[in-house]
Amino acid sequence: MKRKNENKLLAGRSIHEGELILVNARYPVMAANPAGKVISLKDSGVSMERRAASVLLYIMKSIGGEGAIEPVSGYRTEGEQRQIYKDSEADRGEVFTRKYVALPNHSEHQTGLAIDLGLSRENIDFICPDFPYEGICQRFREEAAKYGYIQRYKEEKEKITGISHEPWHFRYVGYPHSEIMEKKGMCLEEYIQYVRQFAFDRDHIHVEMGGQGFEIFYVKEDQAESVSLPEKEIYKVSGNNVDGFIVTLWKSAREERLYRDISIPS
Ligand code: DAL
Ligand code: ZN
Repeated sequence: MKRKNENKLLAGRSIHEGELILVNARYPVMAANPAGKVISLKDSGVSMERRAASVLLYIMKSIGGEGAIEPVSGYRTEGEQRQIYKDSEADRGEVFTRKYVALPNHSEHQTGLAIDLGLSRENIDFICPDFPYEGICQRFREEAAKYGYIQRYKEEKEKITGISHEPWHFRYVGYPHSEIMEKKGMCLEEYIQYVRQFAFDRDHIHVEMGGQGFEIFYVKEDQAESVSLPEKEIYKVSGNNVDGFIVTLWKSAREERLYRDISIPS
């Protein structure tokens, strides 16, 4: 039965946009150029999607990482990714490049949601910056998932991601997804697959994280029309860039407040 004041949740949305889009060798960047939504990270010449940028700066500040950790590479245009691939092939060969540089149109950097971080020093390797599993870098790594970031290319997931171990590459996927992935030991490919089991008309994921309840479910693209929610619900929608949407519901108003506390610079 239809309730009053319902929200057509997915009307006009694209499965190719949002914080949880999967971009890899199989699933290319499909959304229109996100350049209008990216902002510059303070003094670094590196830019990212607005929300991802503000959360990154928030984590850096909270761990005292400014100055010690440098943003090395964030948002890239298709042309830039193409040039990086070409230069890397010329300088370091094809085998290296296939391991560490995604093909043009298959790089997360083109979404504005990915960032390469390096320990601050005179000569930082642009493709493989040093980001050790100790000190301030490890501190960042440990905090990242609490705010929506994941280390995207882990050693044990190389066969699934198709990219070699990259200790320096972080991807914004939003909270609580980052923490669920971390706790379950899933990479983004596995998580997208996992969430697909929790369809709108079946059981949903219910989690309690950071003192907040969340409900998560999946909507197949061709069922998007049939999904609606009461208007007072607090929710977030992302495409998965594969075949549908992932909906995240906040189960009380508290987290909305916390969420808003991380201000977005204009
Ligand atoms: N280094 C990552 C895989 C990229 O080029 O997107
Ligand atoms: Zn990267």
